[in-house]
Amino acid sequence: MKKRKTILNLQSMKEKGEKASWITAYDFPMASFAEQADLDMILVGDSMGMVVMGYEGTVPVTMDDCISHCQAVRRGAPNTFCVGDMPFGSYQTSDEEAVRNAVRFLKEADMDAIKLEGGKRVLSRIRAISDAGIVVCGHIGLTPQSSGQQGGFKAQGRDVESARLLIEDALAIQEAGARFLLLEAVPPELTEFISNKLDIPVYSIGAGAPCDGQLIICGDMLGMFQAFTPKFVKKYANVAEVIINAMKEYVDDVKQVRFPEDKHVYHIKDSIEEFNTMFDEFR
Ligand code: KIV
Repeated sequence: MKKRKTILNLQSMKEKGEKASWITAYDFPMASFAEQADLDMILVGDSMGMVVMGYEGTVPVTMDDCISHCQAVRRGAPNTFCVGDMPFGSYQTSDEEAVRNAVRFLKEADMDAIKLEGGKRVLSRIRAISDAGIVVCGHIGLTPQSSGQQGGFKAQGRDVESARLLIEDALAIQEAGARFLLLEAVPPELTEFISNKLDIPVYSIGAGAPCDGQLIICGDMLGMFQAFTPKFVKKYANVAEVIINAMKEYVDDVKQVRFPEDKHVYHIKDSIEEFNTMFDEFR
């Protein structure tokens, strides 16, 4: 049986130059597929808001949404390192509130770590959650929860000044106690610099190859999320097409009475004559 990785395994993978594979999942079947496919890590991202709930962004997602999806994912992937994503509003108000919510991910959903967005402005939250004994993942670059402030879902760190700020954020996040860091939508040159500079593992989503591993959103890579496809996504399948075609075939079968067939029904155990006699009682 697969053994669940720990943060020490992820750290030693960085030291050995072994890349980590990381995917999002939000429910039991996807988590179970990820575990069967031997992914190193799963993120129960607040991207669930867009991928499975149909919101335009991640802001409406609540703590209760996240906990319930994390629980389903843990049931599907009992032996995979799972990260719970702290939704908007769950860590913005105070360190105490942030710790209380981070604790829920471990106590109620058996997550291995939590992730929160932001750099220097969330340092005291990272420190407080780490001090509570919880493995924290930082997340900088494009940060969907603050995409309003960033002017939309836009790549970050493309000029020297904004790249400098991201390097300062990355160093501060490590210093505050985060055990790994996610860079989203920044240039690979910056990713390489940060990943070499930091001791903790640095992973990329849309931040190029030169770092310690990659994260991808399941709905994007499987072709299930239809609203838009970011430039950094590689589509490995077109599951939406497979599902729509299967459903169309089913509709056709129902209309043409090709389904169900004889093999899909439960046959009577007594004789048809006995059944007819019984039916007559009701006629
Ligand atoms: O929620 C999520 O899936 C994320 C990724 C966009 C990094 O935070």
